[in-house]
Amino acid sequence: MPPAKMSKLSVIVTLSLVALVYSQKASVKQSESAKAELEAFINEAKQNVNQRYRLTYHIAAPVGWINDPNGFSYYKGNYHLFYQYYPYDSVWGPMHWGHVTSEDLVNWTQQPTALLPEDEQCFSGSAVVDGETMVLIYTGHKITDEDPFFNQTQYLAFSDNGVDFYKYSGNPVIPLAPNGSPEFRDPKAWRHGDSWYVILGSTTEDDRGRVLLYKSNNLIDWEFLSVVAESNGELGYMWECPDFFELGGKHILLMSPQGVEPQGDRYHNLHQTGYIVGHFDYDTATFTPETDFQEIDFGHDFYAAQTTEVNGRRLLVGWFGMWENEFPEATDGWAGAMTMFRELDLNSHKRIVMKPVDEVLSLRDQLIINGEFEGNQTADFDKSAEILIEGDLDEDIDILLEGRDGGGKAWIRWDKVAGKVSVTKEGGDIRQVEWAHRISKRWRLFLDTSSLELFCGEGEVVFSSRVYPLGGWRLTNLSAQVLRISGYSLKRGVPE
Ligand code: FRU
Repeated sequence: MPPAKMSKLSVIVTLSLVALVYSQKASVKQSESAKAELEAFINEAKQNVNQRYRLTYHIAAPVGWINDPNGFSYYKGNYHLFYQYYPYDSVWGPMHWGHVTSEDLVNWTQQPTALLPEDEQCFSGSAVVDGETMVLIYTGHKITDEDPFFNQTQYLAFSDNGVDFYKYSGNPVIPLAPNGSPEFRDPKAWRHGDSWYVILGSTTEDDRGRVLLYKSNNLIDWEFLSVVAESNGELGYMWECPDFFELGGKHILLMSPQGVEPQGDRYHNLHQTGYIVGHFDYDTATFTPETDFQEIDFGHDFYAAQTTEVNGRRLLVGWFGMWENEFPEATDGWAGAMTMFRELDLNSHKRIVMKPVDEVLSLRDQLIINGEFEGNQTADFDKSAEILIEGDLDEDIDILLEGRDGGGKAWIRWDKVAGKVSVTKEGGDIRQVEWAHRISKRWRLFLDTSSLELFCGEGEVVFSSRVYPLGGWRLTNLSAQVLRISGYSLKRGVPE
């Protein structure tokens, strides 16, 4: 039933159901008419979207702008992914939470927009499941009249069906950073033992990024525990979108620092996403780092990644975009996407390895090519493909990816002398990193209408970059060696 047509009785029944499930927590229903108007707008506006760059198995908004993944979770048999969303234009604007669900991380269903801005814009956050209730914790961003002209506090919203969300009437639940910093956002919550924990991005008084840890026994009353980590001055002025989890017997602090200067091959995107491996002691709330910060993805377009754990697997998704990069699809009525879903492991060198979730095998459709590829030999693909590439790593590898009808291009290369893999967009915009090919020497390349993701070996090195070819993809082996290449076309996983 469209929300606008809900009878008063069903509104009361729904409200009291939520109240029953979450009895202590008064919640406020978001305006049904605002939600209905928004869905009508989206359904109308998406008819006008130009399809040329629309992705076939990556999540993107039906229309408008998206950035960070939010609230990645599993609830009542479905994966849920929310995202920072501005439906009314293909540029950033007052933030909503868009919403999609899936049973298998591959086939996604569009859901109604979950959170609409009211007094507060709905900035990034996370989701946890408390009994029968899904609880969202997010940053309420408010514009003020006084310098610095905004404040950020932490809000809750509830749902007992995973579709309709009710904001908590006692918001905000965490009103102020301990040092009063206005930059105080992106709560990531989890449960440990009988308690809830939340980690938040913030800054020191002298503008160094830091993350803060809080604890609660009811998700409403929060106690500040500790500064989990902060920049020594070289890791940026603000740490956005922190995440904190166990992997391979260690604790991983994943975050997105703003303002890190380029160093050699590293940090060439405007902002970075990476991690520190260490040990966390819940009794003292102290994190002891065992590694330096390292990037988790080396591509041009990757940011603000978020994880969740389901059945012992640590799953990750990132924003397939970067602040201030160009989004050629913006002229088509939409901008931004999510990366493929990845499963994480920690290797014996304390490096995260990242592979596409096994579920993506179910996207494979036709085997299009399989065999040896001489120098200058080409292969044509449709809009989406999975391509497995093996060559002799004692020789260079050079592969051109371009549109069958022109448009954007990229080169993926192995430089045997430097021991580096690189992805170069037109204009020489290169990202490169050393790859110690430890177990597997194979590359697994995923192409979608306007994206590429390259997974090297066991996932020691991964690149996510947006590229905009026209008319499907053409691969050319520019190497002086013969490559073994097999490639599949892929089925659609997201709504048109
Ligand atoms: C990261 C970020 C978050 C913020 C959100 C606003 O990309 O800046 O820190 O919550 O985007 O859309």
